Formats: sequence, C-alpha cells, structure tokens
Amino acid sequence: LELLPFAERLTRWQRSHGRHDLPWQVADPYRVWLSEIMLQQTQVAMVIPYYQRFTESFPDVASLAAAPLDEVLAHWAGLGYYTRARNLHAAAGKVMSAFAGSFPATAAEMETLPGVGRSTAAAIAGFCFAERSPILDGNVKRVLARWAGVAGFPGEKKVEQQLWALAEALLPEHAADMPAYTQGMMDLGATLCTRSKPRCQACPLREDCRAHIEGRQAELPTRKPR
Ligand code: ADE
Repeated sequence: LELLPFAERLTRWQRSHGRHDLPWQVADPYRVWLSEIMLQQTQVAMVIPYYQRFTESFPDVASLAAAPLDEVLAHWAGLGYYTRARNLHAAAGKVMSAFAGSFPATAAEMETLPGVGRSTAAAIAGFCFAERSPILDGNVKRVLARWAGVAGFPGEKKVEQQLWALAEALLPEHAADMPAYTQGMMDLGATLCTRSKPRCQACPLREDCRAHIEGRQAELPTRKPR
C-alpha cells in the first residue's frame, strides 16, 4: 500500500479542502506581504476588514511609502502590536529606495525589510514567486512536531532548528506546487491539526503521523516548561 509523498498529499488536500476565498490570495506581493504582517498576531476574521480598508487607502507600495506615518497608524487602530505598522511603513520606504519601487522577488531580499522574518519572507516568496522556501509559524510547528513526533518545547533553539530542517526536507519537489503547499500547511494547522481536538480522521497525513499512530496528539508539541 503505497503512500504519496508528504507534499503531494498536502497539496492535493489543499486544492480540494483548503481555503481559496481569502482576499489576499492574489498575485501582488505587496498585498500578500501586508496580509502576512496583519496575520502575524491577529485572526483571519478580524484582519479581513482592516485589510480591505488598508488596500483601498494604500493600493500599492508607493502610496504606502508616500503616506504620513500617522495615517498608516490610524488604519491600524484596533489591530494592536503597532510596531508592525511602523515597520510596514519603514519597509515601504526601503522598497522605494533600495529596490526601485518593486517589491523584492526572493525571500533573502524580503528578509532585509523591517518586520519580515524568515517564515514571513518564505510565505510571500512561496505564494507569489513559487520559491522553494519553508514556512514555520506556530501552526506549522504544531503540524510538524506531531507528524514527526518531535518532542521538546518548539520555542527552544535546538527544537526549532530541528523543525526548520524538517520543513526544508518536506518541501514539494516541483516549485510550481509551492503556493498550494504553503497555503496547505497553514490551512491544515488552522482547520484540522488544531491544538485541542484535532480532526485526525480528515487529515491527509494521518497514515504516517507519529502523534496520531501513537495517540500523542495531546502531548505534542511539548508545552512551555514552567
Ligand atoms: N495566517 C498567516 N498567513 C495566512 C494566510 N495566507 N492565509 C490564512 N491564514 C494565514
């Protein structure tokens, strides 16, 4: 009984059961970047109206860079973590001055922008440019810790390092699958592989998921030691 590779199962699942109606599922890296920054610390349902108002007022990186910071902060009011908005405005300025007004097309260049870390850069590059770079946000850490049975608190450097290596090794062979794969990792963590009561019976990874096989879903990922 042959199993398809991890990435093929996840990508197929995303295409039939994942989310396809999010307003930032567009080709424009500026809009994808904005959505990823908003989604770093805020839930999808709350982000949607903020994203709509923000993109109406600042439809491209040039209009964001040209706006006064106060106006950008006014659009952020209620979302919290205002450093995100300050970094967003500063990064828009850097795109204009250092990248000639074109949003960079590689994760390595995106990581030079304030507020854009390794996982956020990989998400934008995967969605918009089909770059083979792994994401590793909180949801993805949970999926991978369970699937591979990686114990230890994921906030610890050596555990996080293991998870990054695993995320890299599991990427799809074909770069063209990166947008669906990246969205699939996010969707699986948000909709099936939840912290409590994961819906393993609907999961495309259950046949070889260590946590599911061993009944350790509640123990993985390991909680913060206290
Ligand atoms: N959370 C972070 N990025 C996301 C995305 N692109 N879609 C849905 N939820 C997300």
